[in-house]
Amino acid sequence: KNIALVAGGYSGEYVISVQSAVTIENNLDSTKYNVYKIIITKESWSHTRADGEVIEVDKNDFTLTINGKKIIFDAVFIGIHGTPGEDGRLQGYFEMLGIPFTSCGMVTSALTFNKSYCNKVVDALKVVNVSKSVHIFRHQPYNTAEILQQLRLPVFVKPAEGGSSIGMSKVKTAEELQPAIDKAFKEDTQILIEEFIKGRELTMGLFRANNAITVLPITEVVSNKEFFDYEAKYTPGVSNEITPAPITDDIARQVQEISTVIYNKLNCKGIVRVDFIYEESAGKLYFLEINTMPGQSENSLVPQQVRAAGKTLTEFYGLLLEESLK
Ligand code: DAL
Ligand code: MG
Repeated sequence: KNIALVAGGYSGEYVISVQSAVTIENNLDSTKYNVYKIIITKESWSHTRADGEVIEVDKNDFTLTINGKKIIFDAVFIGIHGTPGEDGRLQGYFEMLGIPFTSCGMVTSALTFNKSYCNKVVDALKVVNVSKSVHIFRHQPYNTAEILQQLRLPVFVKPAEGGSSIGMSKVKTAEELQPAIDKAFKEDTQILIEEFIKGRELTMGLFRANNAITVLPITEVVSNKEFFDYEAKYTPGVSNEITPAPITDDIARQVQEISTVIYNKLNCKGIVRVDFIYEESAGKLYFLEINTMPGQSENSLVPQQVRAAGKTLTEFYGLLLEESLK
């Protein structure tokens, strides 16, 4: 089968995407799949052949023409974090062309990619706590004094549509709020300002294959920094990631159940990772976010969880691809 593995993207997560694609390509079974890596940037959508020849994708039908022969893809393995691979844009394009792909569809991707809208939908499911937050827009007036009346410090200021903690700050004093807002508005036109919950960070990947949902082992992230920021996420040793997480069976079961409800109710497909904060003193689990294109780099969480589950990445990526082809 001909498989396009798309990587790159238009956001600051480009570098992570290229690393994710290396892991995916190295672990896709080459006896079953002819994999063509396609790097998507604003400037070009192209495949580079082993001899260095660069071939542009025909965007009318998402094909490549190599030596006069047109390559039609049976499926696309999407490995782009951020826009346009995680926010529904490419998903909508492939849906229009009728080409199967490995991730959530357009609507689910777009909804979950916006942290503020996603929080509201998950809150309405009434299965998990969601931190109190305010959603502001660059082109609409906002008042920091009012925000500080509505929310208790510290707060997190996040670009509403972003990833890998890019543009994000933890704000502990009133004076720090405006600079944090300005920083986040450099990355996005809308921002989520959310009350900080003191607790343990738990995260778990799950996916549907062969009519069943598989939950992977839960990871606890212990960051040595103020929060699990870009550096802590991708520099080995800066955070400690413990899989399986040293938590009680009861909390593990709650994380699995909540994640499964969210996966089903939001109509997810493929591998999704749900992040939580466990406020141990109150025994409460808070939803942080859902990642529909979780990182697959060497230092990313999902590959660690797959290995901890005793599966190989080849089995795992094979399951995701086969499921997309059904
Ligand atoms: N946004 C990064 C890639 C993640 O969720 O793993
Ligand atoms: Mg994320």
